[in-house]
Amino acid sequence: MDMLHLDNPSAASEWCVLQREQGRSLGFVATMGALHSGHMSLVRRAAAENDLVAVSVFVNPLQFNDPGDLDSYPRQLEGDCALVAGAGGSMLFTGSLEEFFPGKLAQDGGLEASAMVDPGSGAEGLEGEFRPGHFAGVATIVKRLFEVTQPTRAYFGLKDFQQCLVVRDLAFAQGKPEVVLCPTVREQDGLALSSRNLLLSDEWRAEAPRIQQALRATRALWQQGQREASILRACLVEGLADSALEVEYAAVRDSLNWTRDEPEGSLVQAVGLVAAKAGEVRLIDNLLLHMDGGVDSV
Ligand code: PAF
Repeated sequence: MDMLHLDNPSAASEWCVLQREQGRSLGFVATMGALHSGHMSLVRRAAAENDLVAVSVFVNPLQFNDPGDLDSYPRQLEGDCALVAGAGGSMLFTGSLEEFFPGKLAQDGGLEASAMVDPGSGAEGLEGEFRPGHFAGVATIVKRLFEVTQPTRAYFGLKDFQQCLVVRDLAFAQGKPEVVLCPTVREQDGLALSSRNLLLSDEWRAEAPRIQQALRATRALWQQGQREASILRACLVEGLADSALEVEYAAVRDSLNWTRDEPEGSLVQAVGLVAAKAGEVRLIDNLLLHMDGGVDSV
């Protein structure tokens, strides 16, 4: 079946509602484009578990706290369409901020404050602290995308760990859709796939796998029986100490009971999380320390 490409959310909404009315299950994958194998794994999984798959491509200005990051974010719609079609997508749609939120734009071109969504407790600390406003922007667009598509299931990658918490809580509060969290896809050397990797120079590309190496060393310490967040965190910090990367945070949290600050006492499950700048490019990654691979629920 050919993939349909729609260039506004209202046409996309009509198509999705029609499909659901006809009794078809709909998987949904939200993206900002510049798609890579990580996104494709979400599309393929959605295609395997649903009758149809809708994919959004929208570089959401509401979630960029750094205007330079928004300007440099890679955009390649034609290539994205081909990839989604190849991975079993049924419909891909785009739109402008105005089209997503008709009548709700403020004078400055942003969104009226009253239209912004509270991202909840998963947004507290780490990414939420280093990227003020980011998760409110994510929650606002994801809620809107769920309204537009009304999917049966929505698929998100665990690379953005706190985003997964925010989206899961949002869907839980609304009672739908089912949110499916999927494992991070990596390069051979461990670097988590990200659209921003396209912006790395050769030198920074060579340095970037240090993040995953430090996370794996911390997981090895967990496997030896260490359960204290502060000691696990010290290992993570140590693993990055002589790297050229500029570390914003290297932290350990309880993966099932998110807290803004480091948890005290012995952990039963844990996630190590890192944000670091490779030159101008900000990279994030995480690893579930209590897992050998694969994913648990968060
Ligand atoms: O993960 C992303 O690419 C974005 O945060 C999302 C979920 C598409 C919302 O803009």
